[in-house]
Amino acid sequence: MDAVGWRLRPAKRIDSRLSGGDVPEAAIRVKHLTKSFGPQTILEDITMDIPKGAITVVLGPSGTGKSVFLKHLVGLLKPDSGEVWVGDQNVPALSEKELYAVRKRFGVLFQDGALFGSMDIYDNTAFPLREHTRKSDSEIRQIVMEKLDLVGLVGAEKKLPGEISGGMKKRAGLARALVLEPEIILFDEPDSGLDPVRTSFLNELVLDLKQQLGSTMMIVTHHIPSARQVADYIGLLFRRNLVSFGPKEDMFTSKDPVVKQFLAGDTVGPIGMSEEKDAPAADDEDTEETSEIVVRAASG
Ligand SMILES: Nc1ncnc2c1ncn2[C@@H]1O[C@H](COP(=O)(O)OP(=O)(O)O)[C@@H](O)[C@H]1O
Ligand SMILES: [Mg+2]
Repeated sequence: MDAVGWRLRPAKRIDSRLSGGDVPEAAIRVKHLTKSFGPQTILEDITMDIPKGAITVVLGPSGTGKSVFLKHLVGLLKPDSGEVWVGDQNVPALSEKELYAVRKRFGVLFQDGALFGSMDIYDNTAFPLREHTRKSDSEIRQIVMEKLDLVGLVGAEKKLPGEISGGMKKRAGLARALVLEPEIILFDEPDSGLDPVRTSFLNELVLDLKQQLGSTMMIVTHHIPSARQVADYIGLLFRRNLVSFGPKEDMFTSKDPVVKQFLAGDTVGPIGMSEEKDAPAADDEDTEETSEIVVRAASG
């Protein structure tokens, strides 16, 4: 079994306590992942082992590349360099056919929900089962209705995505992500557009899933109380880098200025108002310590 190597540059103060028996097994190993779009480098040399059977929450200012990162894990984007290992397969190196097989292990809820507009909620939810399994219609019905019940959408099966609210679309996407009972679940801002009560239900659901399926989950959210409630591990993306990654408790007691500011939602600190625009050039601060990032007030 693979041990997780916590080889993270600025995050090493947090992770250094994890050694020997404390080191979790990895479900996905990301190595030196770098991605640019045109002249803009979005992710730079990201190395991260995503712990198996645990919930990892990914935080970071808008536009830092959280969604781009998730898309690399399922091969929807190819890195300029670096590797993404799921078991013994390096996702960027796979053929379409191999990729198809690897994707069966994932349940994914993307930020935009991505339901098929012309299919009703039932057919949207049933889609992965019809696509990837040989289950009978009645078996499919049982699974679909169970998942729709889980997300509170029984009664809405016949509705088209255009006829339901944003929150309901999220939950339909969630049901669809779960029908194959995946080993690995990726949620990209599952709680955006949900009211606080729905968000709490969603968090309970996530914790139930971890318990019932033992799935590895990676959740992108901006909702710090959710991170506090569900995370086992928290990673923070900031200016192309994974600036910190470690057990939740360590992150919430971290002295790192970026981590502290983000978790507290403070306006004063290294994170500015329009982060992706006013970040200094790549080479300036990509060194050993995040504290090298100049501290300044957010609004000027
Ligand atoms: N397919 C793409 N082509 C070009 N630029 C992209 C593409 N996808 C994302 N980007 C850019 O990459 C950056 C990170 O985007 P994203 O991962 O969506 O951020 P977030 O952290 O908010 O999820 C943004 O500047 C976005 O405009
Ligand atoms: Mg995003």
